[in-house]
Amino acid sequence: MKKKEKKLIPSGFLAMIVAVVFLSGMATVLVSGHKINVYRQNAADSKAIADNTSSYDSVSGLSSDAIAPNAFDDKSNLPEGYKTISVLNEDVNKGQLILVNYQYESKIDGDNLINLYDHLSDSVGIKDDDMYINNIVLKPMNKLFDDFQKEKGGTSILISSSYRSRADQTKIYEDSVKHTGEMSTQYYVAKPGYSEHQTGYCFDTAAYNYNDEMIELDGEGVYSWLADNCMNYGFILRYPEDKTNITGIGYEGWHFRYVGVPHAIAMKENKICLEEYITGLQKYTFEDGPLYIDKGDKGRWLVYYVPKLEAFNNTDIPVPVDSDKCTYSISGNNLGGFIVTVDVTKDPENSLIPKANKTWSFDNSSLIIKDFVDYNPDEDPFVDTSTDTEDDWQSDSFWDDSENSRFDEYEDYYDDGNYDYDSPGDYDEE
Ligand code: DAL
Ligand code: ZN
Repeated sequence: MKKKEKKLIPSGFLAMIVAVVFLSGMATVLVSGHKINVYRQNAADSKAIADNTSSYDSVSGLSSDAIAPNAFDDKSNLPEGYKTISVLNEDVNKGQLILVNYQYESKIDGDNLINLYDHLSDSVGIKDDDMYINNIVLKPMNKLFDDFQKEKGGTSILISSSYRSRADQTKIYEDSVKHTGEMSTQYYVAKPGYSEHQTGYCFDTAAYNYNDEMIELDGEGVYSWLADNCMNYGFILRYPEDKTNITGIGYEGWHFRYVGVPHAIAMKENKICLEEYITGLQKYTFEDGPLYIDKGDKGRWLVYYVPKLEAFNNTDIPVPVDSDKCTYSISGNNLGGFIVTVDVTKDPENSLIPKANKTWSFDNSSLIIKDFVDYNPDEDPFVDTSTDTEDDWQSDSFWDDSENSRFDEYEDYYDDGNYDYDSPGDYDEE
């Protein structure tokens, strides 16, 4: 029944819109059967692990001998109200905060996927019935589009792409090179293995234009509501116009990535992209003082970074004990560590904060990410300031030269009439 109600896109439209074809993953989606370890506290397991850190050893599958010692091995180092859990180092590549870009490959190919056709709200259409997304994204995604519809009424918005396997991305990349060349492909399409779509944490939006053609959203008109409000649902517009030299991807008004509410709000309010946020968060360790995000009625969170222990298979991570007052989640960052997010909204007395650590450093302003506001690209590990040449199209460093960027050349190329970007239908469908 539900399937009949779902707005599907007639296949004829696809032939008209090559730009969407490139970005939307037409190849069959392969659902991988990865076993996942989700370190998410819930009512059932919080009591069991409260005073027994080794209960998570069974999750890791390792014997207690293999569990690494670290700064928190001596439990007296832990502040009151905290315990440690042991997580597998290989999970550093999993979770909603993994950074995947031209430099950092996705080590997962789908994770905890769920079929969108069966579960997506009817407030948004979908390109076909063979689309998947990480399970954690579904609920906030449905709420985002339900509220969008409430605010803006009926639109022809649809999801044109979500999870894409590495094989899907390879086909998209190769098709794009064939149709538009290497230069424009690298402007919008990640190399196979380096696409955020491979993680299952993002989706692309499209809509019909006045000619009934399906085109990717440019974030204009009623659709600007999505970019303006998505952070309250845990999403970021992943490739902003003013961050292309950091993300390595041109502005994409259609690509939304799930990171979780506090992180999305922090990035939006400080006008920083995921690269800047994940890099900057490495300064906010448990010992030196977490990031404190206070959004009043919307919630309050502590966020801290725990580097993985290189010499071991596991890393002990400090987490709060009291499940009545807080919940927490742990995500890898795909760079070598874990990010812990503690929701302290239900802890009005802030009992966890003063107890957490003597060196705990936060101030009471509403949001504290000072380091990011004065972001200096010269100090960013993502920016290679070496001089690039035209021969460097394939090299990562070419993305980063703001003086002579590939984007300038891309614009020149199309300004010369090599490609009519407004008429993608001029190209044949594969
Ligand atoms: N369009 C985005 C960057 C991708 O190909 O993953
Ligand atoms: Zn996308």
